[in-house]
Amino acid sequence: MTARTPLTALPAYATLAQLARDLEAVTIPSLFEADPARVGSFSATAAGLHLDFSKHRLNREALAALVALAGQAQLVDGIEALLTGGEINNTERRPALHTLLRGTAAGELQGLYSEVTATQARMRAVSERLNAGQHTGFSGRTITDVVNIGIGGSDLGPRLVTEALSHCHGNLRCHFVANVDPADLASVLADLDAATTLFIICSKSFRTEETLANSLAARQWTLGAGASEDELDRHFLAVTTNLAAAAQFGIPAENCLPMWEWVGGRYSVWSAVGLSVAIAIGWERFADFLGGAAAMDAHFREAPLDANLPVLMALLEIWYGAFYGAQNHVVLPYAQALDRLPDFLQQLTMESNGKSVDSSGQPLPYNTAPVLWGAAGTIGQHSFHQLLHQGTLLCPADFILPLSTHADDKAQHRRLVANCLAQSRAMLVGRSLEAATASLEARGHTGADAAALAPHLAMPGSRPNSVITMDSLTPATLGALLALYEHRTFVSGYLWGINPFDQWGVELGKEIGTQILARLEQDEGETMDAATEALITRWRNVSD
Ligand code: F6P
Repeated sequence: MTARTPLTALPAYATLAQLARDLEAVTIPSLFEADPARVGSFSATAAGLHLDFSKHRLNREALAALVALAGQAQLVDGIEALLTGGEINNTERRPALHTLLRGTAAGELQGLYSEVTATQARMRAVSERLNAGQHTGFSGRTITDVVNIGIGGSDLGPRLVTEALSHCHGNLRCHFVANVDPADLASVLADLDAATTLFIICSKSFRTEETLANSLAARQWTLGAGASEDELDRHFLAVTTNLAAAAQFGIPAENCLPMWEWVGGRYSVWSAVGLSVAIAIGWERFADFLGGAAAMDAHFREAPLDANLPVLMALLEIWYGAFYGAQNHVVLPYAQALDRLPDFLQQLTMESNGKSVDSSGQPLPYNTAPVLWGAAGTIGQHSFHQLLHQGTLLCPADFILPLSTHADDKAQHRRLVANCLAQSRAMLVGRSLEAATASLEARGHTGADAAALAPHLAMPGSRPNSVITMDSLTPATLGALLALYEHRTFVSGYLWGINPFDQWGVELGKEIGTQILARLEQDEGETMDAATEALITRWRNVSD
């Protein structure tokens, strides 16, 4: 891959460094006073999502310089290469075409797209057959429960989307098993009847230890409940690129739905990896989910950089990381349905951009992906928000708020909305020492007492945050939201010079895990470092 000019060598980088220093002395509330049109100018809308990024340490000049930086990095060419099948994943020599799964650039990529639509037709058929009650198990009874066995991208995406769209569910119940800890599978199977349960083994590689171990256990469970070997076909489907390994496991080709090397695991919910979603919500709604993502793709491709949601969000990430040393980013969905979003985004952003060399292998001189964390509001308010408001870490935040609810209790939802807006505003405005003192006095504290307590109550404010709203959480807006974060991840990686589509860093741990398992099972293999040896001995002392 041709080496690009490093971010730090682009002309706008030095300008931004100076602007960041100038803005350090400025409070974010004062930026609102200086620019009455700020909210309108620091907002953008696309694909049913509205991004308000006015509460950031950013003025028009800095925003323009960030956009100039993206221009100088030739981001538009990068976006086009991503969407049209350029070899963007250079270390694995392949494109990253998750966008094609939702029809983006289908015209330019007809050959590959025909494989996508053929697979979608199969997904649709499986989903419709199950939902019509036509798929029966070994005893002749209708399948009622589907268990997706997978991990990482073969779990987090379908799990999030299935749970987030529970208001769209049909008759089938979908469950997810990921952890190699046998307690995970056991807790899911405890409530299920093998005669009416269908497993989807979801593994791009069909080599992942956790998934294979859980699948073997599920197979035994089904046989143990009375199924014959021949009847297992009614209970096991696979989604994989590795048909040979699936066949060896005992899943015939007609029970396998394909994946492609050009779809990364963490970008794969749009593929047959989303089969459990399509089963849970029905094909039409799954198509709406794809449509929402396609609308975000179109926006990403066509909107100018200064009104482009994923680009703006990535530029904010670059801004705080490069010029203010931010090393974490908090995501706060104010919707219980999006409870799993931080988990999904952790893999998306940290497996994509948690790297310290550029795409040509050169060490990078700046921070890359921050730690992403978060939890559904209002849960976090009663645990970690203290740190957001008064801690010493810089934690740029994304609040995500569906403006309406599918729940019946609209009054209670109003409370949720109020809490979200309040937290975002509290981060912005904070509370001065004077206001803190006055508040204490109003509560009956005497002068000296109030003065002593006031520093504990005072809050600096000026804590940067964005608010992403949507009218309601639907398959389409959820699709757009996930595509937004996918593209934000790509743009950040592109600007940092990273290849966001490989994950070589996960391999060593897997290799050592295999070596240690050999030691635990047969006491075979090489002696390890003293600390690991001591832990192996501790395990031996208590294992059966
Ligand atoms: O270990 C990391 C990883 O390779 C992820 O990138 C991937 O999503 C996950 O494991 C599961 O992989 P597979 O779908 O091949 O089982």
